[in-house]
Amino acid sequence: MPVLLFIMPTYETITVEKRESIAVLTINRPDKLNALNKQVHADGVAALEDLRKDGSVRVLIITGAGEKSFIAGADISEFAGQTPVMQRNSFHEKTFFNSIDSFPKPVIAMVNGFCLGGGNELALACDLRVCSENARFSQPEINLGIIPGGGGTQRLTRLIGEGRAMEVMLTGDMIDAQTALKFGLVNYVYPIAELEERTMELAGRIASKAPIALQLAKEAVKFASRSNLDEGLRREVDLFAICFSTEDKQEGVSAFLEKRKPVFKGK
Ligand code: COA
Repeated sequence: MPVLLFIMPTYETITVEKRESIAVLTINRPDKLNALNKQVHADGVAALEDLRKDGSVRVLIITGAGEKSFIAGADISEFAGQTPVMQRNSFHEKTFFNSIDSFPKPVIAMVNGFCLGGGNELALACDLRVCSENARFSQPEINLGIIPGGGGTQRLTRLIGEGRAMEVMLTGDMIDAQTALKFGLVNYVYPIAELEERTMELAGRIASKAPIALQLAKEAVKFASRSNLDEGLRREVDLFAICFSTEDKQEGVSAFLEKRKPVFKGK
């Protein structure tokens, strides 16, 4: 288990710990099952901005406080005061969803319990999702007379396909961890007691790779669902070429030829 180095600047509704090159961001409203209110969005945006600039952080894990819930969705108590125009403008705003989407380093959602509505949308904005056996997933907005508005209709459909996404969104039903695994919504399911350790292992494996190549790989993969094949293939070649300007590419190739482990510096 990596050594706990220090706790980052304080935010009102989230905590951020750094464990060597891995940062763990925890949404900390367990009494409200970590529901996403305006303050969580503001804190999430601020924390991701800090973590983006922090060169010592190579991988980010996002989770929720407690064992019961990752995030139980948007804070429904804030819906009453929301106007249609406010909701529509959220597409252009700095929301937690948008900050994760544009975060250049790999992000893993560590889902511990309820992953509902905006919680599922937040997990979908991450690059990888791992969950505990007790995790439950849903887009229950339909039960409130609304639809997902944090990227769910688009990202879930791209990830698991139209038929399954339709079922999740039209029924609002919860699916369990094994079904989420079968659907391809999560990458791995672990017993709750192992979730943190196994997620840290995964994050550690990724963090040992060349940081610039990680960022470029992420950019290329994300571009795939936002472009046609020709544009995507062109973008891939450009990003591939950029790798050849890095010291880490020299190190990776030399280490292979010299039969040793590479030491990547992010240069
Ligand atoms: N927004 C605001 N508060 C929420 C919330 C949400 N999305 N989800 C849970 N909470 C609050 C509850 O109001 C309750 O607060 P209180 O103790 O002050 O009354 C607290 O979190 C605990 O939730 P509770 O409902 O008592 O827990 P439970 O174990 O009985 O049920 C859920 C858990 C997740 C099934 C239930 O809380 C729920 O359905 N939440 C809403 C999920 C949802 O529709 N999310 C999408 C919103 S778009």
